Amino acid sequence: MSTRPLALFIMTLAAAEAAPRILVHGHRGARAVRPENTMAAFEYAIESGVDVLELDLAVTADNVLVASHDPVLPEEICVGPAGTRTIREMTLERLRQFDCGSKPNPKFPRQKAVPGARVPTLDEVLALAPRGVFEFNIETKIFRDRPALTPPPAEFARLLVEAIRRHGLEKRVMIQSFDFRTLQEAARIAPEIRRSALYAGAPRDLTALAREAGATILSPHHSLVNKRVAERARAAGLHLVPWTANTPAEWDRLIEARVDAIITDDPAALIGYLKARGRR
Ligand code: G3P
Ligand code: CA
Repeated sequence: MSTRPLALFIMTLAAAEAAPRILVHGHRGARAVRPENTMAAFEYAIESGVDVLELDLAVTADNVLVASHDPVLPEEICVGPAGTRTIREMTLERLRQFDCGSKPNPKFPRQKAVPGARVPTLDEVLALAPRGVFEFNIETKIFRDRPALTPPPAEFARLLVEAIRRHGLEKRVMIQSFDFRTLQEAARIAPEIRRSALYAGAPRDLTALAREAGATILSPHHSLVNKRVAERARAAGLHLVPWTANTPAEWDRLIEARVDAIITDDPAALIGYLKARGRR
């Protein structure tokens, strides 16, 4: 029997070992091309072949988790009735009167308007799960200095864990936050769900930061990541998932550092870039 198939198999294994797959997270769905945190953005990201949908959470007055980066709906991207724009001060019914798809974000010139796009509930986003094998990277937007904008950390974490369990998605979700209180609460009530420590700021010992957060995923701003940081993260058994890298120069630096995943506003472009380099 020829030994060629075996040799080919071994060579393929060796190549995979040398260049492991880098996962792609669609930031706020796919903010470069669709209004952020909308169903249109998440659907676009899924159709692009994304590995993970990144989204942010706010909580309405009637305790419904919704996908929004800002606890106060920005005039720049959402139009709606006069009065409060603070999500925590409005019911889901009022929130649904806002249109967050008609005004493309001026910072993203390729973003296509989706008139009438509403702020989706977390339940609606999680209901996309059967459309593929992607995961969800869900950020609790909670602020120590503005406690009125969210429920307390234990309540926020409980609502989120209940939603994840309702959809049976414990294995397909990671919870991320800059404020580690919700991560610590989630660890207490649902240790099986992965947690990711977000960081922006001055360089510091990032593996220690992940330990403080009780996280197995380390997610710093991409500018803080280099080969040394990546090596230390690997040695500590952490997954390194920098955000939010949008240009080939940024992607190259992260690929060279051998990160595990990249969070980007343009997942289709990053997937194409990685494919062209044999990394997917
Ligand atoms: O996933 C990390 C990243 O989303 C954090 O930044 O402000 O876009 O939520 P931000
Ligand atoms: Ca986020």
